[in-house]
Amino acid sequence: MYVAIICGAIFILVAGLLVTIIIRFRYKAGRRPPQTFGNTKLEIMWATGPAIIVIILFIMTVYTLHEVTPGGEQRDADIVVIGHQWWWEIQYPKSGIITANELHIPVGKRHLVRIESADVIHSYWVPSLNSKVDAIPGHPNYMFLQADNEGIYGGHCTEFCGTQHAKMFTRVIAESPADFNKWERSQVQVAAAPASGLAAAGFRIYQQRACLNCHATSAGPDLNHVASRQTLGSGILPNNPANLKLWLLNPHQFKPGAHMPDFQLSEHDVDALVAYLETLR
Ligand code: CUA
Repeated sequence: MYVAIICGAIFILVAGLLVTIIIRFRYKAGRRPPQTFGNTKLEIMWATGPAIIVIILFIMTVYTLHEVTPGGEQRDADIVVIGHQWWWEIQYPKSGIITANELHIPVGKRHLVRIESADVIHSYWVPSLNSKVDAIPGHPNYMFLQADNEGIYGGHCTEFCGTQHAKMFTRVIAESPADFNKWERSQVQVAAAPASGLAAAGFRIYQQRACLNCHATSAGPDLNHVASRQTLGSGILPNNPANLKLWLLNPHQFKPGAHMPDFQLSEHDVDALVAYLETLR
């Protein structure tokens, strides 16, 4: 706003002078306006004026950057966001929660977030809440995240990171402190393995197919509470049993090149897996 006001004032001054000069000194036959060669006072003024404005804007920028950027001494992040090809891992070091793509925060509180990458350079951006922060392998970056109003804030990877860069969505879900606590309490619980029925069959397939090799080692999204999430495949599909089935039948029809293999599962196996995964709330 300050920059806009200063620039607006300069624009009005310059445009106003221009219009005045065009009218006042317009061509008239036989009349030549007085010619001036150099004016030291004026030249000093138009050199120092802009310099002072630039210095003021510089000081204000440094001050604002200092306010919105975490200081170098703060390293105890509340939340860790890790970019993967092509999804976001989200960890809460204090409670031990690990989830994917959907970052929950209570409203009105400032969170220190560490941004990392597991493979290539990504960039975490939720336009309504933060500026872009690059996720660089081996070089953690920090930012503050705060939402003052409840709601879902959409975001996206903003550094080209491979074929599915365009499908690397994220969302911040800002909740009332009570709702956030409820979410936190449910996320720290570990679901019991289903004892019978289709879900139990699905659990067996889940183990046989070694899904855990990726999904419990951060090579793929943690699935402990997968059914409680709003979206699948890093935001490309609403999370419901029908879409989960389509995804498992062939992830690459939605995300060509995704590291989730197409296991060529039978329809029955997929139904069983969906039944199992839906128990993970
Ligand atoms: Cu990750 Cu682009």
